[in-house]
Amino acid sequence: MKIIVASDHAGFEFKSRILRYLSENKIETIDLGTETNDSVDYPDYASKVAKLISKGEIDRGILICGTGIGMSIVANKFAGVRAALCHNLETAEASRRHNDANILVLGSRVLTEAVALSIVETWLNTAFDGGRHQDRVDKIHAIEKSHGTVNGLSLL
Ligand code: RB5
Repeated sequence: MKIIVASDHAGFEFKSRILRYLSENKIETIDLGTETNDSVDYPDYASKVAKLISKGEIDRGILICGTGIGMSIVANKFAGVRAALCHNLETAEASRRHNDANILVLGSRVLTEAVALSIVETWLNTAFDGGRHQDRVDKIHAIEKSHGTVNGLSLL
């Protein structure tokens, strides 16, 4: 599995730690920035990751900002993206089992680094349940289809 990762300045330190964790666990990553603590705008980084997930070029992504809220709002504007803002192991597990989340979003100002790493581990190691949850994900796709997509990107 290849994971694409990005953050704004608020998430930069967490991103570095998460990239190290993924590398230690032999998981291939692509780092799309940011590269420093200098202030940047989260929509620029969320859209880079969400666009690649939406196009189906990469299976999974991780986004980090201060609260996780801005990254979630932007990422979920892209067709086929199911970005889940997770605060604990329960939400991380449910976002995979029930929602087949393809982007994990974390808030560096509302989590400890240790909790963030446990969330990443759980999220990567939990499979989608399918069944009735697939029917619900299909309904999300139907909603995207009926309302059009962002920037002409669509998997439908
Ligand atoms: C940056 O200060 C902060 O607004 C951003 O990281 C994020 O929390 C936005 O939702």
